[in-house]
Amino acid sequence: MKGVILAGGAGTRLAPLTRITNKHLLPLYDRPMVTYAVEALTRAGIQELMLVTGGTHAGEFFRLLGNGHDYGIDRLFYAYQDGPGGIAEALGLAERFVAREKCCVLLADNVFQRTLRPIVERFEAQERGARIVLSQLDDEQHLRHLGVAAMQDGRVTGIVEKPETPPSRLAVTGVYFYDEQVWDVLPRLQRSARGELEITDVNNWYIERGQMEADVLEGFWGDAGESIEQYYEVNDFVRRHRVNA
Ligand code: DAU
Repeated sequence: MKGVILAGGAGTRLAPLTRITNKHLLPLYDRPMVTYAVEALTRAGIQELMLVTGGTHAGEFFRLLGNGHDYGIDRLFYAYQDGPGGIAEALGLAERFVAREKCCVLLADNVFQRTLRPIVERFEAQERGARIVLSQLDDEQHLRHLGVAAMQDGRVTGIVEKPETPPSRLAVTGVYFYDEQVWDVLPRLQRSARGELEITDVNNWYIERGQMEADVLEGFWGDAGESIEQYYEVNDFVRRHRVNA
């Protein structure tokens, strides 16, 4: 399975810190944020990766990761996204790299306490379709800033992006698994109200066809790019506990 780490976007929610660097290069405890995403994938057994980034600090990722060998990556590829056109747009840049294999897509600001390995193995065994990973959150205000799953009889019936009234307590985390159909879905997407190609539209495409599986996470999950408060919450967690374990 190929891995795609998305580290583009404008990072406006962490401005002015992100005027002088890329959000995913900011420190989480003792090392840059993106290294946690790299570790999450390599520890899950995915060693062929593409990193997608953009903006004026893209060169810093080369300086940090180089050919990836120091980080347990076999082969590391890079792609450059011209502007913050959305997660699904960034994923589109990895099409030739993935070459119609199965892929695992990870947002570089997401941190997981527990290893993703069992979930990766479940997707390896999944015949076709896609897979998302959910996290139970109790704070309704927090859910309003995320994608939230609507559920019926234990299955996901739809995902609502940044819902005013969250349809459940299950947030959609930033790790996604796709089969080769994703490359046919991406070119058909329309830009959303915020001018982006939304990954939630890709996921809803699979859900409508009954081809989406979901896992509910155990342990901590954080999106360090969501707000300065979340950034510090994730920092505090990483400082006190082991992650990707
Ligand atoms: O973190 C989980 C959430 O991530 C999900 O619950 C939402 O459903 C999903 O839409 C996404 O929401 P965010 O509002 O947090 O997405 P954001 O725009 O912050 O982008 C997340 C990461 O995706 C960012 O850290 C880098 C990458 N990205 C984003 C954009 C807009 C890119 O590589 N290129 C982009 O153009």
